[in-house]
Amino acid sequence: MNGALAGKLALVTGGSRGIGAAIARDLAAAGARVVVNYRAQYEAAAAVVAHIAAAGGTAEAVAFDVADGEAVDVAVHDIAVRLGNVDILINNAGVSADGLILRTSEEAWDRVLDVNLKGVFNCTKAVTRGMMRARAGRIVNISSVVGFMGNTGQSTYAAAKAGVVGFTKAAARELASRDITVNAVAPGLIATDMLEGMQAAARDMVLALVPLRRLGTPEEVAAAVTFLAGPGGAYITGQVIHINGGLYV
Ligand SMILES: NC(=O)c1ccc[n+]([C@@H]2O[C@H](COP(=O)([O-])OP(=O)(O)OC[C@H]3O[C@@H](n4cnc5c(N)ncnc54)[C@H](O)[C@@H]3O)[C@@H](O)[C@H]2O)c1
Repeated sequence: MNGALAGKLALVTGGSRGIGAAIARDLAAAGARVVVNYRAQYEAAAAVVAHIAAAGGTAEAVAFDVADGEAVDVAVHDIAVRLGNVDILINNAGVSADGLILRTSEEAWDRVLDVNLKGVFNCTKAVTRGMMRARAGRIVNISSVVGFMGNTGQSTYAAAKAGVVGFTKAAARELASRDITVNAVAPGLIATDMLEGMQAAARDMVLALVPLRRLGTPEEVAAAVTFLAGPGGAYITGQVIHINGGLYV
């Protein structure tokens, strides 16, 4: 497919639904070949791949758990052998386990940190060698407005998403000499399944604080990610783009 990302190979973690699916579709529309990672939802990932193919793009679904470093290494090695080095990594996979601190188990803490933060480290580490050799690469991490503002009942998620920002800045400095850019986007309230898990009262309370007075869409997040992954993002690194309708300014 023609487009600004023609010839590039993109890996989108957690690309089977929500924001990740929108990012996968958008990168493919810009010409990238896309690997849609999923953990368990094969049908959903296959539907994203089929959607991209129907639009004239190229994609395939690849299963691994981003929290499992060994599984990530094996998958990225297999992708490199079959499809080539990953040029664009979008660390999108995420989970939340909301609850007050006093009611949060150590297991819940570990799982949220393992997927949202260690997963970013695992996937970044796995693609970095190929990007360094190519002396080019784009990495975009999905943080959250909650990592900047905090939120009652989201201590684990806030800690992980703030951690993603620190990791983004450190990685940006470390990899810049090889022309690899590392940025983050921090979505606010976006209409996806993840938001369905939030209590309606809590969601309405936060929505009342959004100056643009509506939820964002996955496509609006995807547009910023594709920008950072494309030619327009070439001189941007270590930054966070906030996509939140003014919720946090
Ligand atoms: N929806 C929002 O309002 C919002 C706001 C800010 C940030 N975010 C972030 O955006 C990202 C996408 O969120 P979403 O709303 O689309 O959520 P979602 O729950 O709809 O999608 C999350 C995706 O991650 C995948 N995933 C979960 N654990 C995984 C693992 N261990 N390995 C591989 N894949 C895994 C899921 O299968 C799913 O495809 C997440 O990082 C989330 O924290 C979402």
